[in-house]
Amino acid sequence: MRRRLVRALARPLVLAAVASALSAGSALAATSDRVVIGGFPVEASDSPWTVALSSRNRFGGTRAGQFCGGVAVGRSTVLTAAHCLSEEVLGEPLERVHDLKVIAGRTNLLSAGDGQEVAVRAAWVNPAYDGASNVGDFAVLILARPLPVGSVIGMAAAGDPAYAAGGEAAVYGWGDTSGVGDYPNSLRAARVRVLPDALCEDAYPGGADGGYDASSMLCAGETVGGRDACQGDSGGPLVARGRLIGLVSWGIGCGRAGKPGVYVRVSDLMRTLGWTRV
Ligand code: ARG
Repeated sequence: MRRRLVRALARPLVLAAVASALSAGSALAATSDRVVIGGFPVEASDSPWTVALSSRNRFGGTRAGQFCGGVAVGRSTVLTAAHCLSEEVLGEPLERVHDLKVIAGRTNLLSAGDGQEVAVRAAWVNPAYDGASNVGDFAVLILARPLPVGSVIGMAAAGDPAYAAGGEAAVYGWGDTSGVGDYPNSLRAARVRVLPDALCEDAYPGGADGGYDASSMLCAGETVGGRDACQGDSGGPLVARGRLIGLVSWGIGCGRAGKPGVYVRVSDLMRTLGWTRV
């Protein structure tokens, strides 16, 4: 799974600059309002806890350096995917990336005056994250300054009905809207459903590469495909019943029938961190 994940990431990230240059010329106008995959535009104020992860040094300034998503669970605490902070994604070790920021409250990445950019002061990357199996794909960022009051979402604890299969959920991000490298400038969301673990166990049986692990991962999408997260959405939130249940982690392709999105199961993250809601 490691090689597949890295390949999936590397190509769209490299294409990002090309895609945004093209869409300025409207060649991609027909696809640009398709989605995330199968989604619709939302305002940052509709999901103020959704943040963009940015490094202009690593990813260039065309889209404010956005390369992953994240979610604020405290005014100075943001969750993201561990793989977003890996050397494979960043191109160098995290400790050498000196301009890691979160961008909050900004719908359009190009609207430099909107919202705020806050430096990341420290990052805790799950030491148990396994890039081969994708198990434990989460990290905690500590911000240099607190985000505004109201930009925080609560995490759904184990047993919360928000995790029930069949439930409606939404995923948010600035990721690829087509699966071939169409990166939007503005935030989007897609309505998906929490799917039975058995669907992802069938879709991703694993083997040497590792597969779907129901205890630490969550399966979501549409059984017929069409709505999904995609490259560039990683680390961003999956929300159900107003609570955070997942972080975008991986999948094969985007929005393909029979290949749902795989998310970090937030209740497992809470258990791992010994995090209790009080
Ligand atoms: N690994 C991707 C990223 O870094 C996210 C892939 C999610 N894929 C999916 N089909 N839901 O942005």
